[in-house]
Amino acid sequence: MLEGRIALVTGAGSGIGEAIAKRLAREGAKVWVTDLDLEAASRVAGEIEAAGGRARPFKVDVTRREHLEAARDAAFAEDGRVDVVVANAGVSTMRPFLELTDRDWDFNFAVNAKGVFLTLQTFARRMKDQPLMEGSELRGKLIATASMAARQAAPLLAHYSASKFAVLGLVQAAAKELAPYKLTVNAVNPGFVKTSMQEREVKWEAELRGIPPEEVIADYVRQTPLGRLERPEDVAGVVAFLAGPDADFITGEAIEVNGGAWIF
Ligand SMILES: NC(=O)c1ccc[n+]([C@@H]2O[C@H](COP(=O)([O-])OP(=O)(O)OC[C@H]3O[C@@H](n4cnc5c(N)ncnc54)[C@H](O)[C@@H]3O)[C@@H](O)[C@H]2O)c1
Repeated sequence: MLEGRIALVTGAGSGIGEAIAKRLAREGAKVWVTDLDLEAASRVAGEIEAAGGRARPFKVDVTRREHLEAARDAAFAEDGRVDVVVANAGVSTMRPFLELTDRDWDFNFAVNAKGVFLTLQTFARRMKDQPLMEGSELRGKLIATASMAARQAAPLLAHYSASKFAVLGLVQAAAKELAPYKLTVNAVNPGFVKTSMQEREVKWEAELRGIPPEEVIADYVRQTPLGRLERPEDVAGVVAFLAGPDADFITGEAIEVNGGAWIF
């Protein structure tokens, strides 16, 4: 489905980003596996290559414009274009609203909101001038990992939720502005996904609510009508759909991937 395409994923050293990178590679794309943690990115790229795919690890801190520009320029130098960019890197902290600190707010916004802005803008600036993708009427596709928290705020996550609401506003405006260049911009909204981010959150939430971690997890499952924790692969499949030709006429959209945990 993505044979011959060039993709780049941020935060691809673990969790959802890792699953996205591996899925896009399995669909035939060469994947630039980027992460703040170069060792993690290298492991994922190595596993993709061992499975017969094509991957290149690259260190990118999405809060740093110059890192993104370096990755973009490396990809354009080596591959001549970038067809699919997935702005996936994200962070979270948990705190009651009345105790939120400037640091919580700034950290979450720097990575989750500004990081997505910098990623999409940096790549769109070059992608808008590249030839159409082969067999397509589009030049490329930009995809962001937002969150169910971009639709429905949760206690202890006001700052995180606000940063994810920001992502959807950005995606909608960018979709309108970049459509004339034949670039689409979409998002996925995962629910309760079993990753290292979730592990950290379960620990914090258990402490803050004074309940055992198993009870926090049971609560996530109870809130999910399909009755299990989400897997990173559940998200990766929908990103592959958005990256592929069947989604060519979708732009400005955010697809809920949460087992029914938020239905509107
Ligand atoms: N896990 C969930 O339940 C869940 C739910 C909804 C949305 N999300 C979103 O999915 C995305 C991935 O989350 P995850 O659960 O896989 O988290 P994770 O912590 O397992 O992985 C995140 C990756 O991003 C990298 N990263 C962190 N800061 C970075 C930065 N400044 N620049 C580049 N890379 C950076 C980390 O090194 C790590 O490899 C995030 O945007 C997150 O907000 C997660």
